Amino acid sequence: MISLAIPDLTGNEKKYLDNCIDTTFVSSVGEYVNQFETMVAAATGSAGAIATSSGTTAIHVALTALGVKHGDLVIIPSFTFIASANAVRHCGADPWLIDIERENWCLNPELVESELEKNCEVREDGNLYHKERNARIAAIMPVYTLGNIPDMQLFRKIADNYNIPLVVDAACAIGATFHGNDFGNLADLSALSFNGNKTVTCGGGGAVVGNDIKLLDRVRHLTTTARVWPDYDFDEVGFNYRMTNIQAAVGVAQMERLEDFIETKRYVRKYYEESLEKLTNVSFFPTTAGSSCWFSGIVLEEGAVLNDAKEICAKLKDDAIEARSFWKPVHLQAPYKDCPRSDLSTAENLWQRIITLPCSTNITEEELNKVVESVKNALD
Ligand SMILES: Cc1ncc(COP(=O)(O)O)c(C=O)c1O
Repeated sequence: MISLAIPDLTGNEKKYLDNCIDTTFVSSVGEYVNQFETMVAAATGSAGAIATSSGTTAIHVALTALGVKHGDLVIIPSFTFIASANAVRHCGADPWLIDIERENWCLNPELVESELEKNCEVREDGNLYHKERNARIAAIMPVYTLGNIPDMQLFRKIADNYNIPLVVDAACAIGATFHGNDFGNLADLSALSFNGNKTVTCGGGGAVVGNDIKLLDRVRHLTTTARVWPDYDFDEVGFNYRMTNIQAAVGVAQMERLEDFIETKRYVRKYYEESLEKLTNVSFFPTTAGSSCWFSGIVLEEGAVLNDAKEICAKLKDDAIEARSFWKPVHLQAPYKDCPRSDLSTAENLWQRIITLPCSTNITEEELNKVVESVKNALD
């Protein structure tokens, strides 16, 4: 089977894991955690990085550190992995679901601006409230879908205009850049995932990055049960969200190969587009300058539905190729069906037509060629 996205663990992973066992540093303290944080901060152009147990916990702790609390609303795209919404709910807040831009599949800043203007007012306490819901708007959280970075300058302007924190779900965006390597500057905090299907994996894991050291210190405090050393004192309700040295050992070995991994991801995306561009009934995953091209694949023509995509995936499976549909929007998921929302026609029109194709960082030319031939046959 040619897998969709499996990790390449042929670097120093084993050696560093052995070192964890030999030194007994298997828990949340250890040199690999420090090293991993330094590498992630450097790769994202951030002043610092706090390693966490997962991408979901990274988003949750970032939102908490930025003051999101019970009864608030957080603006997110409906077209995202459900963990973005779950992290908002873990704060006791609700997601306000806004549509995406067709060109990059990321949250649409112009729509965010017009929805805020239409539905919100600044009240006496200086906060912005959703009039109908009577709920404070606590943060705007774009998602760097596929490693694409949207117009963050515009998001910054909107967030500053209303004095709302800007946090990014950058779960799938390690290696992405925006006009150079200034990832850390683009938002107050950004959260990454190092889950098994990500470009860089720790098995499971995450990180919060940013440029505000005080804010990062608060994130670290919250991830470590809000403990005040040296004794058993705790100054608030914190979380045990730390990454272990074992996870970080794998992560360090993976980060050593980041450049190669990103090069492959970009190559795979281009390969599919160039090899299949003659097909008139498909288009390709969008990309932005500096995108890390986490996933690659095809989009069926307008009018196609989920069953069409599933049928193609089944045909590819017959050829021993793993292909899958992609994120079903959050507003169509049972726990979120009553959340406030904008018009979501772009997400609704798009999601059923997406097919993700194999894009592991160790995929071979021969495998890519096999996928292309199989797609051509399936679509014939
Ligand atoms: C957009 C997005 N947000 C959040 C997550 C959650 O990350 P994790 O699985 O590490 O908790 C993922 C990936 O799994 C994701 O793709």
